[in-house]
Amino acid sequence: MTDPVKLISSLKIKGLTLKNRITMAPLYLGYASPDGTVSPLMLEHYAEMADSGAALIVVENSVVDPSGLGSPFTLRIDDDRFIPGLSRLAQTIHDNGALAFLQINHAGRYAFMQDKLTPSGIKIGELETKEMSGADIDRIVECFASGAKRVREAGFDGVEIHGGTGYLIVQFLSPRTNLRTDEYGGSLENRMRFPLRVADEVINSVGKNFPVGYRFLADEELPDGLHVEETAVLAEELEKRGVAYISVMAGTYDAFILPEYIQKEKQEAYMAHYAGEIKKAAAQTPIITAGRIKTPETAESIIEQGTADLIGLARVLLADPLWPKKAAGLIDEPIVECEPSCSLCLRRTMVGKPAFCSQWEKDRREAFLNKIGEKSEEA
Ligand SMILES: Cc1cc2nc3c(=O)[nH]c(=O)nc-3n(C[C@H](O)[C@H](O)[C@H](O)COP(=O)(O)O)c2cc1C
Repeated sequence: MTDPVKLISSLKIKGLTLKNRITMAPLYLGYASPDGTVSPLMLEHYAEMADSGAALIVVENSVVDPSGLGSPFTLRIDDDRFIPGLSRLAQTIHDNGALAFLQINHAGRYAFMQDKLTPSGIKIGELETKEMSGADIDRIVECFASGAKRVREAGFDGVEIHGGTGYLIVQFLSPRTNLRTDEYGGSLENRMRFPLRVADEVINSVGKNFPVGYRFLADEELPDGLHVEETAVLAEELEKRGVAYISVMAGTYDAFILPEYIQKEKQEAYMAHYAGEIKKAAAQTPIITAGRIKTPETAESIIEQGTADLIGLARVLLADPLWPKKAAGLIDEPIVECEPSCSLCLRRTMVGKPAFCSQWEKDRREAFLNKIGEKSEEA
């Protein structure tokens, strides 16, 4: 293989220098304590991720209001009492050589509690949800802003707004889930109002010099969902606001279960073409692409061709925490690949169990299960 020159070259983002183009994309593994605080398991995990040689670790979603908790093991940032634990997490990542961002989120209709906040009253199974009032919207925007401030206070280098995966921000953007008739629903301009208010208030609250990244849903991967023609307009708006980067993904929970999506998701670099589309719309903003970037060769060619500026590794880095060092030629061993037909990490998080990777060596898997007090490797 020729040296991945571009992949290991540095990049400046809003006053930060990323030592290479490799980032960890947010990956929720159910490691937080049941009260939403940072656990010892989490510190250990992120120490390893930061020591991987990736330039930037974007820590998994943390919730800005308890009404938006995706699970009991989701990190929380809705109160100052969470700052000390998060400070330890930021420090651990720094001590292991990487920059640290923290993602902030509200799960909306995917929150695990009964009383869900959603843009429009919809039926989820037997459950009726109520349409968010203007006051609810103002409050949650404010929660994003104060959550972002806490990210800065905890010592992170930046904050990432979670505008992906079909959570609350996407629920406002999508015509499938936003049926409102007020200024937050209907036209694209109206559907973008909530995401852009969140972006504006977050940027205001942390100040122009603190980097604000955006996890970005390029396409819902559903026939009646959001498509790139619309989301490209949001990317232009985010660029105008000076976001530090746009981290492109595609698909929401409603798509993840479809056979077409499941097939597509098995392919290498399956979301890179969307990153390329969004890069055209926001040409001055660094773009991250994730999604089975299996090899440094693929990563290099994505950057070389200008499809994206940065590579995001999530399951890929969990399967092989030495991926970046191997890419840089510091370790001469084959990369351990995330197995496309395996969804063990996801399945375990869905049932509230701490996730691990089926590709880890047996000793490591056993040691992990021992640590969390489990006897067998069942999902
Ligand atoms: C178990 C699991 C948890 C995830 N958690 C998050 C998350 O907290 N925030 C987020 O933006 N994306 C999350 N993602 C999406 C990843 O960041 C990434 O886009 C996706 O897994 C593709 O990259 P990969 O093939 O390297 O895993 C998650 C994905 C999985 C499988």
